[in-house]
Parts: sequence; structure tokens; C-alpha cells
Amino acid sequence: MKKISVLGCIAATVLSGNMLRAENHILLSTKNSSLLLTAEKGQAPLFQYFGARVDSPDDIFNSGVALRDPAYPQFGSQCYREVAVQATHADGNMSLELAVESVSRDRRDGAETTAIAMKDKHYPFFVTLFYKTYDDCEVIETWTEISHTEKKPVTLYRFASAYMPVRRSDTWLSHFHGMWGAECYLHEEPLTDGMKVIKNKDGVRNTQRDNPSFMLSLDGCPQELSGRVIGGALAWAGNYRIALDNDNTHTTRVFAGINEEQSQYILKPKEVFTTPVFAFTFSEEGKSGVSRNIHRWARLHRLNHGTELRDVLLNSWEGVYFKVNQEGMDQMMADLADLGGELFVMDDGWFGDKYPRNNGETSLGDWVVCREKLPQGIEGLTASAKKHGVKFGIWIEPEMTNIRSELYEKHPDWVIQQPYREKRMGRGGTQLVLDLSNPDVQEFVFGVVNRLMTEHPDIAYIKWDDNMTLYNYGSTYLPANRQSHLYIDYQRGMEKVLRRIHEKYPDLVMQSCASGGGRVNYGVLPYYDEFWTSDNTDALQRIYMQWGVSNFYPAVAMGSHVSASPNHQTGRHVPLKLRFDVAMSGRLGLELQPAKMTDEEKEFARKAIATYKEIRPVVQQGDLYRLISPFDKTGHAALMYVSPDKGRAVWFGYKLEHFRNMPFPTFRMAGLNPDKRYTVTELNVEGKPIPQSGMTFCGAFLMENGLEFSLGNEYASRVLEIKAID
Ligand code: DGJ
Repeated sequence: MKKISVLGCIAATVLSGNMLRAENHILLSTKNSSLLLTAEKGQAPLFQYFGARVDSPDDIFNSGVALRDPAYPQFGSQCYREVAVQATHADGNMSLELAVESVSRDRRDGAETTAIAMKDKHYPFFVTLFYKTYDDCEVIETWTEISHTEKKPVTLYRFASAYMPVRRSDTWLSHFHGMWGAECYLHEEPLTDGMKVIKNKDGVRNTQRDNPSFMLSLDGCPQELSGRVIGGALAWAGNYRIALDNDNTHTTRVFAGINEEQSQYILKPKEVFTTPVFAFTFSEEGKSGVSRNIHRWARLHRLNHGTELRDVLLNSWEGVYFKVNQEGMDQMMADLADLGGELFVMDDGWFGDKYPRNNGETSLGDWVVCREKLPQGIEGLTASAKKHGVKFGIWIEPEMTNIRSELYEKHPDWVIQQPYREKRMGRGGTQLVLDLSNPDVQEFVFGVVNRLMTEHPDIAYIKWDDNMTLYNYGSTYLPANRQSHLYIDYQRGMEKVLRRIHEKYPDLVMQSCASGGGRVNYGVLPYYDEFWTSDNTDALQRIYMQWGVSNFYPAVAMGSHVSASPNHQTGRHVPLKLRFDVAMSGRLGLELQPAKMTDEEKEFARKAIATYKEIRPVVQQGDLYRLISPFDKTGHAALMYVSPDKGRAVWFGYKLEHFRNMPFPTFRMAGLNPDKRYTVTELNVEGKPIPQSGMTFCGAFLMENGLEFSLGNEYASRVLEIKAID
């Protein structure tokens, strides 16, 4: 990294009334936003501004909007404040006094990383703040490195990835809360005095309840298409904490990072502690604007194979559950091929020799085929896939074991456990978590995938599940004085394994699943192509969950499957058309037994899958405009995807409830080219198409006035393709 003096980061005139020297300001800009920091040698660095793009720091200072807040608040003299970093030195001193040493910039591969290096004024204790901007997207990544060369270890008690002060006005928070089967519901509230904390302490499934992401709408009640919004997501798969501290100095102080509770870190001399990345963005185009920025960043820089299209798949789980066998799988593959699908995924129930896996009580860890069920082994399945012209994928849950398994019999010390305590078990009353802080366990978990892939190179896809919380906190591997590292070292171990898999099998497609949507985070997404959004496949409830997920995660990664009616999780009956129309707004798949479909249903499915393949580039790679929120309780929901060149769009509308004479909205579009004319065509038509299907309209008209038509009664839906006329 090129070191430059703190002087000369930016040429700006000396500011009247401002004691800071202009050459110490660091202005980091994307096309539409700017972040201003000040790093003066010997002083604590300052966070001055984050918002709409400015070309000179002068405007920020002269207008009075400069924040002049520490860029990384530390525990020391200002003891009353919430802090980003806190450490106890080897001699027992609990304070820090960090001052800027140098600033450096490093430009490579279309991105620039700025590093502000700080050192404690007395101790050889170092903190470096990193800010990475990309040439091709609106997101800034920030993270921190902490190290020291004191004689003995230093204990870290706080180690945030990022701190960001935000000027407070009528500021609203949007965040994504839920639980199993109802993940990622949108919650919005005005920020009031006091602290609001979004957090997780599960240890493994860190997004089952809250997602490590949030938006702050700065201009009152959050809007989808207008208003200034800041959005941030923490790229970490373990326990996290995002705290928003509102005081009456008109500032919201945002801290984002690993949840440090029970995780104090003993830092050896010269060891570098690197925090996870916090990715943030600003938009003047409302919440959808933030989503588009984050989605673009994800597709280009954070998601495995983010710019590639995904296959239409059939997953066996809701179709057969544990009743896997060669004939059944072969039949499902034949049916999938007949419907036009491209990838078959065999879910749970295929493994276990001594203990065949027939329910959730046995076999995790014994990743050998169950010969009773699959006498021809995986070879039989890949041969079937070849015969039917589809790809083959397989389910594993390699971080886990059951007490009834050969693995546990051999390695009881490999599970997370506490001495003198009875083990609390997970699923089936027998499940335990393997201790991924242990390199032997890492080797084993890597070996599960490595063996499958070496023996069966035709495996194209892996669904990686995790169905348990980290109970029984304790490690037989970590020494007594490092037990508090387990939550962090588990994730680091997991990441090591995933990185090895990624490097060795770069083409392998992987799904991140954790009892449904328990692992929807940017910590793991560099290694996974997609996530399983929720075990709840009820199309109506999915409209809400997928709306929430879409705030930070792009459609290309959002597994969305058509399942049977009545739905297995809610018992609700909804039309096949709604089930397809909802699933087609994400990465379309099927989660049912095709053999149970009627001929009529199969015919509808065949056409819908063919249609999806046509619109897939727009849905999976387009820009999302959320239009009518299901959370606004109008009985309707609508969203659309627009191709980057604005030549094509796909609109989805859903009727959530129906009452006689209820008002229906005029469906206004967004994101189109106002000067272009577009042909509107209804897709997946059932019954009569809308009267406007086949007509042409000008983009400006569609956005300013929109179209009026009825969606139909309860659980009705419509999909429109909007295509520019050349
Ligand atoms: C939980 C997952 O979320 C489901 O999709 C399925 O794979 C089951 N586990 C299998 O046990």
C-alpha cells in the first residue's frame, strides 16, 4: 500500500473559522455519495460527513453540517460515551488514546482502499481504519485492524467494524426481524432518544431473528422511491451487534460489528485482529435506491457467481422429506426435465450406513450413502440426472452431528461442550454442533465436500444446511484462557473451510441454508451463490418475507420455490398461479412432488418455467423498484425489475386480501426511460389478460400515471413484461 503523508490527501482551500487544516481532509466519493474524514497527525481522526456527493469539503464545513465526531470512539478519557474500541493493556490500564500516524491509499482492480493508521500515544497498540470505494458501485466497505507489540497479551472488549455518526432529524429506522418460518419482516420506527440494538447471539444461524442490516431514512417516514436513505449491512455470519445510540445532541451514533458479549479477545503481541466488513451506501432515491446500490455491489463484488444466471431447480424436501430412494429420485428428475427444469437437488435423508437417516435423530456426520435406500450410490443418481438431461445437487449439514452417528462414537471430543454439564441437544433431541475452532474438525468438514466432489465430479450444487443453535458453549480445543474466542473462532474456522472449497471448486454452486433463512448474510455470501429464504413456502407469507429480504439481498440469490397446496407450513390453499408469480420474482424453483400434480397444473408449470427462462435475466440481474408494500396493508403489493439499459422490465402485482368495493391502486411503474415507448404484455395469463396487454405506452406515462386494472380477487396476481420498442 502506497504511504502518503497525511498532508496532501485532498486539495482544498484553507477553511475560514475551521481549525482543521484542509489538507488533512480525506474526501472519498462514489458517483453519488461522499464520505469526509479528517486525519491530522497526532490527533484522533474525525468523521465529518456521509451523504450526497460533494466536490469540496468546504461546502460541508461552511454549511455547518460537519459532524466533527471521532471516527472510531475509544474508551479512555471520554468515559461516558459508547465506544467502538476498548482494550485492557498488559499492565492493567484500561484506556486508549489513539492518534493518527499516517494515511495511505491503494488502488487496484477498480477499487481504492484508504487506510488511516493510528497508534496509542503511550502503548505500542495500533488500530487501522480501512475504507474501500469501488469505481463501479455506490457502496463503501469499511473494516478495522487491531494489533500491538506489548510484552504480554492485551484483552479486547470492544472491536466494532465501523462507527458512523448521522445527523438526527425525523430519522426512521428500517430493520428486518423475524423467526423461523417468518424471517425478515420489515419493521419501521422513528428513532427516539435512547439506544436501539439489533443483535444476534445464536452462534451459528445469525439471521433467523434479525438480519445484520438496516436503513436510516433521514426525511421522515421511509419511502421506497424518494428521500435520503443510508443503508448498512455487516458482512459477518456470527453473533453481531448493531447499536444506534440517539442522544439529544441531535446525532445518531451507529456502531456495527461482532457482538462482543462473552467474546472478549485475548490478542497476542503481533497478532492482527481484523473485523468483518461493514458495507454502507447512501441514496436520494429512497429505500429502493439503497437496495439497488447494495444489490449491484453484491452481484459485482460479494456474491459467488453474482453476475451469472441461476438454474430452475426442483428440491426434494417437501416432495418426499426423508423418504429418499433411487426410483423416487429418478422419477422426480424425469418430471423435472419434463417441466423444463434444469437442476435436481436431493435433500436430507440420503446418508448413514450404520444409522440410516430416516428422521432428524441420527446420522449427521456419516456422509456415506445409505445403501438400503440408494443401492446404486450417488453414481446411480448422477447417471439418472445425465439420462434426464438435468444437473444434480445434494444436501449436507456438515457442521453438525447426532449422538447416534459413527462420527460421534469416534470423536465425542469434537462437539461443542462444557465439562461437568449435561449436553443440551438440538433437532431430534440428539443433534450437536461440531467445534469448528478445532483444525481437525475444519479438515473433516472440508473433507465432506472434498470427498463428494472428488468421487462425484458431476455434482453441480450443494445445499449446505445448519439446523442448530450453538448451545453448550465451550471448546475442548481452545485453551482455558481462550474459551471466550469460541463464537469468533467458530466463524473463522467455517470461513477457512469455505475458502478452501471455493478455491478448489470454483464452479460449484452452493446454497446457504440454516433452518430456512438463518444464514442470509454477506459474511458467507462470497462462498455461496444463493440462500434458502425460509422453510415457509406459503406464497402469501413469502410476499412479506421476500419483500424484507429484497431490501439488502438481490433476487439472483433469493431461493423461492413453488410448493404444494395446501401449504405444508401454514395449511393455506392458494392458486398455482400465485405460487408461480411469487416464486418467479426470485430465483425460481420447485419444492413439491411433481408426480402429485394434475396434468393441468403440469401444463401451467411448463409454460411458467419457459416464461421464467425468458425473463430470468431481468429478474436476476435487473434493478429492483419496490412499488406498493405489503406492509402498508392496502391489500396489494407490487414490485418490478428493470434491465440496466432500461429496455425491458418485469412487473409483479399481488392481491393479498379482497373485500367488496375495496379501492384498488393505479399501478404506477418506476425505473423506465421516460422517453421510450414500451409494449405491455401480460405473462402467466390465467383467464382474461388485462385490457392493456399488447398496447404501447410512453415510459413517462407509465411512471407518472400508471395503468388501472383489476388484479382479481384474494390471492390473485399478475405479471407484466414491459418491453421498449426499438
Ligand atoms: C431445514 C431446511 O431449511 C429444509 O429446507 C430442509 O433441507 C431440512 N432442513 C432438511 O432436514
